[in-house]
Amino acid sequence: MSSYEARFRVWRGDQHGGGLRDFTVEVNDGEVVLDVVHRLQATQAPDLAVRWNCKAGKCGSCSAEINGRPRLLCMTRMSVFDRSETVTVTPLRAFPVIRDLVTDVGFNYRKAREIPAFVPPAGVGPGEYRMFQEDVDRPQEFRKCIECFLCQDTCHVVRDHEENKQAFAGPRYLMRVAELDMHPLDAAAETGLDRSSAARKEHGLGYCNITKCCTEVCPEGIRITDNALIPLKERAADRAYDPLVWLGSKIRRRRS
Ligand code: SF4
Ligand code: F3S
Ligand code: FES
Repeated sequence: MSSYEARFRVWRGDQHGGGLRDFTVEVNDGEVVLDVVHRLQATQAPDLAVRWNCKAGKCGSCSAEINGRPRLLCMTRMSVFDRSETVTVTPLRAFPVIRDLVTDVGFNYRKAREIPAFVPPAGVGPGEYRMFQEDVDRPQEFRKCIECFLCQDTCHVVRDHEENKQAFAGPRYLMRVAELDMHPLDAAAETGLDRSSAARKEHGLGYCNITKCCTEVCPEGIRITDNALIPLKERAADRAYDPLVWLGSKIRRRRS
């Protein structure tokens, strides 16, 4: 096994301020950035705060920015960097810092709570739902989300505009609205809730100008923009112009 000394620059500080600190740290073959951060904790900075759980790209905890790009620390191999380059690790920029690499991602949980849950159809019990396979396949992609919030962090609508956070749910939660809106058994419409117009009026769909940065950083490879946001925009536009067409198509799909 070969090893080398890498140059790391890590943001240290808290909500009152901080700055980048330089370290030289050993890296071994096959390691990821999280391994190196752990070695920094073990050898040079025992109080360095970093959030992680699975080290397998599945819990979504270790989100940070590496050389300015939102990434998972545990899924970024050291081999993607040149050995002579300095690797800079900073906390997610769109969320308030708690300490070092740990941010307060509560914004995302608040947005999640603003989206009304699936409304079960009347008269159909659990286990009795019947759907076409294509209606199962479409949202399955969205269900791969590990809630790492890298898409939320990278979207320019909130990344540099704190003032937009009130009105904009962000790609992860607009995708959730899209998923429910596509669900053929969701009975929200019967309670008077039109999910795609709510996406526009309450969750800020109009702020999204389809830059696709969210899709580019998603570690699960979910095609957030093409498969969730654009169809949601199309459905919102259809309904704005002809809500009767939408209601008719929903009823037809459920009957079939
Ligand atoms: Fe992370 Fe992708 Fe889910 Fe966004 S959609 S929170 S980038 S897994
Ligand atoms: Fe933002 Fe993604 Fe739209 S990055 S602007 S939500 S396509
Ligand atoms: Fe779980 Fe990185 S530690 S995704």
